[in-house]
Amino acid sequence: MKGLILSGGKGTRLRPLTYTSAKQLVPVANKPVLFYAIETLVEAGIREIGIIVGDTKDEIKAAVGSGERWGIEITYIPQDAPLGLAHAVKISEDYLGQDRFVMYLGDNMIEESIRPLAEEFAAPETQYNCQILLKQVPNPESYGVAELDPDNQERVLRLVEKPREPQSDLALVGIYMFDKSIFEAVNAIEPSWRNELEITDAIQYLVDHGYYVYPKIVTGWWVDTGKQADMLEVNRLILERLDRKVEGVIDRDCVVSGKVVIAKTAEIINSVVRGPAIIGEHCRVVNSYIGPFTSINHHCTIADSEIEHSIILENSQVLDIHGRIEDSLIGRNVVVEKSPIKPKAYKLLLGDNSRVGILP
Ligand code: TTP
Repeated sequence: MKGLILSGGKGTRLRPLTYTSAKQLVPVANKPVLFYAIETLVEAGIREIGIIVGDTKDEIKAAVGSGERWGIEITYIPQDAPLGLAHAVKISEDYLGQDRFVMYLGDNMIEESIRPLAEEFAAPETQYNCQILLKQVPNPESYGVAELDPDNQERVLRLVEKPREPQSDLALVGIYMFDKSIFEAVNAIEPSWRNELEITDAIQYLVDHGYYVYPKIVTGWWVDTGKQADMLEVNRLILERLDRKVEGVIDRDCVVSGKVVIAKTAEIINSVVRGPAIIGEHCRVVNSYIGPFTSINHHCTIADSEIEHSIILENSQVLDIHGRIEDSLIGRNVVVEKSPIKPKAYKLLLGDNSRVGILP
């Protein structure tokens, strides 16, 4: 079975980070979201993966490479414009051929292994043409939702994209398994009001044309990392699973407690690090507090500051900030510092669509 990972798209909900970079490469516990997708498929036994790429293709290719590091073969499939999830399937027909495949949204993360589901779907005796993964959510109006037959919970009746009045609380997880019947569907459907070929419409086509769509409800966590709050949430979930590994230089005035990973070339001086937290290569943490659920990527400096429940991307600096930074997602090459120049005022240089929370 092949895998198809969707890593194009616009990423509007994660601006301004996505003006300069792919959202699938934002790190969670210092590893790009996309790598978790690849590793979930590899763990499921898949050895050939096609990756849909859009405007950020060069960056994604540079980060992911040929697949050698996972012992797999990666093929890049360019999508000229983000015309929808079903459009991504449509342009991949030649690559995917006649085989069954797993499609995975490159910004989604899931707790459970999908190996048992993939193996079952790949088995020659399997009767169903498509398997969808569903998860009970408190806010189904924000997702694609599946309605199941009340008399037969193994039968899908209807799929609705972001329903105003949801008839079900089962959201479609961004992992789908298809056989070749999906190509008939994606070639038959029309673009939606937002001019995208919707995967929900394609799956509805399968339901309406007598194909068997099998719903599988997952119980572990699932996060669509498209927004800042979701990124921080999944960062928390992944950091909780870390094993402690403290390798960097830590002076004797430091307190490093709990599940903490500190890279070999990092330096921690006169600071408190309270896990779960991860500090990447070539970071310097001086006279500072790093609190739970914080990921600091490589080449960052944190000095005379406090930070908790946040993600900081590479080459950034937080210097001499009084008042704790929390719930923050800080991009690459960012400097947050106390301004030494009078007047005593906030001095900001922020990209379009930035959001800053200042204490009252
Ligand atoms: P979405 O999160 O639905 O879309 P988006 O990336 O454009 O983000 P936003 O809504 O914030 O503007 O996409 C889910 C995944 O599928 C994501 O990894 C991007 C990818 N994708 C494609 O590869 N091609 C497409 O045409 C679309 C719509 C998404």
